[in-house]
Amino acid sequence: MQISHNRCDRVQAWRDLQQLKIDKASLDLRVAFDTNERRFEHFTMAAPHVFVDFSKCMWDEEIESALLELAQQTGVFSLRDAMFRGELINSTERRSVMHWLLRTPKEVSVSKALDTTHQEVLNTLESFLSFAENVRANHKITDIVNIGIGGSDLGPQLAVQALDEYVIPSKKFHFISNVDAHEIDRLLKTLRPENTLFLVSSKSFSTVETMTNAQFAKNWFLDGGGKEIEKHFVGLTSNTELAKAFGITATFGFWDWVGGRYSMWSSIGLAIAIAIGEFNFRAFLQGAFEMDEHFKTSDAEHNVPLKLGLLDIWYRNFLSYTSRCIAPYHSGLKRLPAYWQQLEMESNGKSVDKSGGQVSYLTAPVLWGEPGTNGQHAFFQMLHQGTDIIPVEFLVVKEPSHAYPENHKLLLANAIAQAQAFMVGESRLSDAQDTPRHFPGNRPSLFTVLERLTPQSLGALIALSEHRTFVAGAAWGINSFDQYGVELGKKLTQNIMDQLGASSPVAMDPSTLGLIGKLEINNSSVKN
Ligand code: F6P
Repeated sequence: MQISHNRCDRVQAWRDLQQLKIDKASLDLRVAFDTNERRFEHFTMAAPHVFVDFSKCMWDEEIESALLELAQQTGVFSLRDAMFRGELINSTERRSVMHWLLRTPKEVSVSKALDTTHQEVLNTLESFLSFAENVRANHKITDIVNIGIGGSDLGPQLAVQALDEYVIPSKKFHFISNVDAHEIDRLLKTLRPENTLFLVSSKSFSTVETMTNAQFAKNWFLDGGGKEIEKHFVGLTSNTELAKAFGITATFGFWDWVGGRYSMWSSIGLAIAIAIGEFNFRAFLQGAFEMDEHFKTSDAEHNVPLKLGLLDIWYRNFLSYTSRCIAPYHSGLKRLPAYWQQLEMESNGKSVDKSGGQVSYLTAPVLWGEPGTNGQHAFFQMLHQGTDIIPVEFLVVKEPSHAYPENHKLLLANAIAQAQAFMVGESRLSDAQDTPRHFPGNRPSLFTVLERLTPQSLGALIALSEHRTFVAGAAWGINSFDQYGVELGKKLTQNIMDQLGASSPVAMDPSTLGLIGKLEINNSSVKN
């Protein structure tokens, strides 16, 4: 089926938004609330398990409707529907994009064309969930070590930390990602081979960091007298052949149509499944499925991922905001900023459109952040009074999973107060505007609320961010599903490694050469 797409900078809605940027240059959130007593009602929306308050975002109804028009004119809906039909929307790699199928329950019928694939997904799910249950019941295994990086680390790590309340207490979960041996060395010193299960998580099974750490773990296991390696190493990969070649016989596969950063719903999520068990893992998938349905079927006016993705376009392309600060007011979500960084920046950090043309507009911003209230005592100074406007995304959980309501009230009050302070600012009568005590205000924020942090609400929240990223990428006309930008660094690392000890020196730039010399990696075989 034909996917209709128009590049965003070539449609009328883009020009309308450019005009709105000029017309609304003096938009003041305080005035917007004073002149529209329904602003909070209008700009708050509910999606499954998630409530979003957009009312302190730097926009109004006119901007919002021009953005919805932009989605229509660029073909966002057409691309969304193509994704849910399983078409090859990852154009550079000629793959479909079907992480959503991983969470489609068996009772839900899919198109005939996807029926067999869905069945394979369900079978794989059954088998890794039953493996997870066995591990949970195996008292000899006390430590689970997930070895993986990027999408094979960030999602599982986020979920296991976030769902701490649901995690089996008799086991410890560890995540090793960095090739820096300090990490794995320090961890393995505390473990025993007979009590440890390694999950070697790698879609490609060739990522150098993961392979290096997996080899390190294997050597440690064998050197430490470990027996029955097949019971202590599991491969989670779409390249089961390479896993076997590495000596891992127990593998759970997945498919090339699952991008690494979209893979926590697949066997890459085994650490999560062992941690929270089959029942809760299914609830996690269910929450994400509900969000998929919301994205697929809600009308544009009520479609939360759509509105978020469009807001991102307004901020980036028309207000030129350079970054987004993620402030989860829940310590369980401390890895959310890191997870979100990969999702957004690896997906939408591109400057070439789908037909290979250079884009003439900005794409992904920088995402960064820290849990509240820590950030308040570190970088919030700059957010309140610095020269850049950086929208802050507050994320709070209404009901805590601890029994200290007063502490939780204080946490929530902090989040609400910070968002208020960004908007209202403060001028003391005696203060001139340029004094250090002046708070300019009119700084935007977004406020997201989960009732509770459960497997279901976490699944919904993550699927919401995936679809938000999709929307922005679709409107920008870029391919959000490849990641060629990470390749050059990998190649040059290999280049340097290959040169060490080689007899014929190779020419390199003076700075690279100088650093090799300074670090004494090897200065005999490379020349200027
Ligand atoms: O280098 C980037 C990347 O390819 C990510 O896209 C991916 O999530 C990560 O590396 C890990 O890849 P793999 O799962 O194949 O080891």
